[in-house]
Amino acid sequence: MSASHAVDPLVSHEGGDDRRIPLNDGHRMPRVGLGVYKMTDDEVAAAVALALDAGYRAIDTAAMYGNEAGVGAALAASDVPRGDVFVATKVRFEDNGYDSTLRAFDDSLVKLRTDYVDLYLIHWPAPLRDRYVEAWRALIRLREEGRARSIGVCNFHPEHLDRIVAETGVIPAVHQVELHPRFPQHRVRAYDANLGIITQAWSPLARGRLLDEPVLTRIARAHGVTPAQVVLRWHLENDVTVIPKSVNPDRIRQNLDLFGFSLTSADHRAIADLETGERTGVDPNDRN
Ligand code: A2P
Repeated sequence: MSASHAVDPLVSHEGGDDRRIPLNDGHRMPRVGLGVYKMTDDEVAAAVALALDAGYRAIDTAAMYGNEAGVGAALAASDVPRGDVFVATKVRFEDNGYDSTLRAFDDSLVKLRTDYVDLYLIHWPAPLRDRYVEAWRALIRLREEGRARSIGVCNFHPEHLDRIVAETGVIPAVHQVELHPRFPQHRVRAYDANLGIITQAWSPLARGRLLDEPVLTRIARAHGVTPAQVVLRWHLENDVTVIPKSVNPDRIRQNLDLFGFSLTSADHRAIADLETGERTGVDPNDRN
């Protein structure tokens, strides 16, 4: 099923690059990217190739996923120029620290077969290790060197954000967290918005677990789209960017086809009722 393409308030027709959201450092990031969590190198190479053909221009990987080499192979094999693709990766929490983060970054570049990334992220604060401020200093240096165009963090509680900003004066461009209708992260979103940080949702579909909710089926039918498209559009209308994961060609295409329909305020109210506070992953304080 495909969304109809009427005028979309999320798409400005004045600029050419209208599906990218401005970041606080002057760069722009696609609102929708392919997430590759849990894909093997082989799966990832196929999925990235499909996604680039389908029009995706953002790929989100991580050292922890063990598939940066597959992403690099797909990027190298693609006709889409490197400069047109927004590539994001993340330092493993075990490598949080200054020198260790710089080393991990070099390793990621080799695997990705590139000499810069568009976004480098601290994957987890791992507060018991207490090395995330040093990792953040390393990211600041990488940004100064131009090897990471933008820098950000993932899975930070507001107190972790406060600390890196207080100790370095540098505000992340992007904050990636688990976020979906079951776990809408009101506090984090408000906090990020206040600092001018773009919130990005990982597991935007709650790993696919909420897609048979009758309320989503009903809203999807009314707009001629699928429940997954409803959820992804809900994110975008909340100014949250998304990195849905899929290895399936139809679903990869569907997850980018989000521009051209809008949800009503009644739809938003109905989706708000899906909140249960359930995470699919761990509390960031518990990953050390
Ligand atoms: P698959 O890879 O077989 O498409 P999340 O990004 O929230 O972690 O969700 C990923 C899960 O949701 C995966 O299991 C993925 O399976 C499934 N998924 C991704 N896109 C869709 C879609 N459009 N419709 C249904 N399931 C989807």
